[in-house]
Amino acid sequence: MGSHASDENIYLLGRDEAETERLNKQHRFLLAISGDELIHPSIPKEEITAVADIGTGTGIWLEDLATKFPNSNSSSLDLHGFDISSAQFPTAHEIIVPGKKRIPLSVHDALQPYPSEHIGRYDLVHIRLLTAGLKQGDYTVVLKNARELLKPTGYIQWEEVDTTTFCTNVTPELPAITTMRNTVIDAMLKLGLWPFAPPTVYEEIVAGGFHNIHREIYTTEGKEHLYAIAPKWVAGVMRALVPPSMVVLGQAGSEEEAKGKVEVLIGEFEGHCKEALALASFGVSVGQRCD
Ligand SMILES: C[S@@+](CC[C@H](N)C(=O)[O-])C[C@H]1O[C@@H](n2cnc3c(N)ncnc32)[C@H](O)[C@@H]1O
Repeated sequence: MGSHASDENIYLLGRDEAETERLNKQHRFLLAISGDELIHPSIPKEEITAVADIGTGTGIWLEDLATKFPNSNSSSLDLHGFDISSAQFPTAHEIIVPGKKRIPLSVHDALQPYPSEHIGRYDLVHIRLLTAGLKQGDYTVVLKNARELLKPTGYIQWEEVDTTTFCTNVTPELPAITTMRNTVIDAMLKLGLWPFAPPTVYEEIVAGGFHNIHREIYTTEGKEHLYAIAPKWVAGVMRALVPPSMVVLGQAGSEEEAKGKVEVLIGEFEGHCKEALALASFGVSVGQRCD
């Protein structure tokens, strides 16, 4: 079940090996759905020398950035990952990409101010998929602390999946989909978490006084190359989120029992997707700090 670091920090997902593998595979899918752009096209890449990733998980986004960054100075690119837990960090809490600067990963709660050596240091702060650990009021605090990491003209790029919109292009909806989606929403609300992340992130960036704001909502619709993989990805997300949610709601006595129930629902969903297109919504919001 999701880790409960303290009463203050609740996290609905697990952090075991299977979840690490899922996050790394998911990175490929999220990149594909957003047009293979690690950094939103509105952010000028030429001048980027330092990037921080908050809630970095396994550090896969930073690792990919180090590998692909177009800047000719990419070997001196200063990258740093932060996460409230080191459970999914690579060994020695750093990422090694041959020919690039080592990428340190630090344990840090995004709800707390960052150490002084990181303040005002980054051209870009990236955040992706913090929703399983944030309450509604936390978004303002995470953004305020992230802003402090930025240089005076630095950018924030915050990406969230909207699990409340998981569906297919077929109506009436398959009851198994409604059940899984509502189970996750109800469990998050019961835990005090906030399942409606993408619009909230956008509203916070607007309210936070950022400039050059952009918002994209990416879906699988129209992206035929993703039609076969989309149901597999949705099934992976549901396998990760629904069993702990069932336990939270008292619909199962243990995660093992919940997993059995979820496999039945996923079997129905996968059968349905032989004809239907799995739709998912991935929101990216961008803003520039202009002090
Ligand atoms: C779903 S994972 C996403 C990881 C990574 N951003 C990615 O997209 O692959 C969410 C991560 O956020 C971290 N997290 C949750 N609450 C946090 C907090 N308050 N501060 C920092 N990290 C947090 C979790 O430990 C986990 O590693």
